[in-house]
Amino acid sequence: MTPHGAVRFSVPVPNLRIERVDGETGLKDWQYVHNLIIPAATLSLDEVRERSGRNLLDVAYADNVLVGCTTVRPPTSDNGSTATVIARILPEHRRQGFGETLYERGLAQARELGAEVIETVVWTANVDGLRFAEKHGFVEFDRYQLPGDDVDWIDLRLA
Ligand SMILES: CC(C)(COP(=O)(O)OP(=O)(O)OC[C@H]1O[C@@H](n2cnc3c(N)ncnc32)[C@H](O)[C@@H]1OP(=O)(O)O)[C@@H](O)C(=O)NCCC(=O)NCCS
Repeated sequence: MTPHGAVRFSVPVPNLRIERVDGETGLKDWQYVHNLIIPAATLSLDEVRERSGRNLLDVAYADNVLVGCTTVRPPTSDNGSTATVIARILPEHRRQGFGETLYERGLAQARELGAEVIETVVWTANVDGLRFAEKHGFVEFDRYQLPGDDVDWIDLRLA
């Protein structure tokens, strides 16, 4: 009861577990989220495996249910210390704070790797992703289409 006599209900907060992709299950879970959210650029398991060797790929589970994944492309000496951070949350698990947690974690990982500039990439069919990026201070600096796809991709940089 609150001091005013109202009954206070406590909403259970799901236990979010975030893991580095390691082994077949992680690779497949990361691939599932990626390909569902970006059907225009699906990746084979071998392609995901190859990316896991050069990027930080994490997967997220809420109460052991797969909810999302991240990509952090580390900065390199020839790209002006620029890292790319991308958070992805399955549509049915959005607006519960998971994306924010994954994004903040990816940002921290990028900074730890020495990134001075942070970029992200959005396939514009992902309206939620574009709104999230703009709300978090990213500004568009490039727009293009990939062969065989008539939907724009946008590169954005953290202002
Ligand atoms: C971007 C994405 C990861 C956000 O995931 P999410 O779990 O829904 O985000 P959160 O619940 O943590 O949202 C945190 C805050 O971001 C903002 N936000 C998130 N989605 C938004 C939307 N569609 N429109 C406007 N603001 C939004 C809000 O401020 C929100 O807080 P609120 O819910 O209290 O208003 C998800 O929409 C997604 O996977 N999109 C497709 C992938 C993509 O394009 N990623 C690139 C962005 S890095």
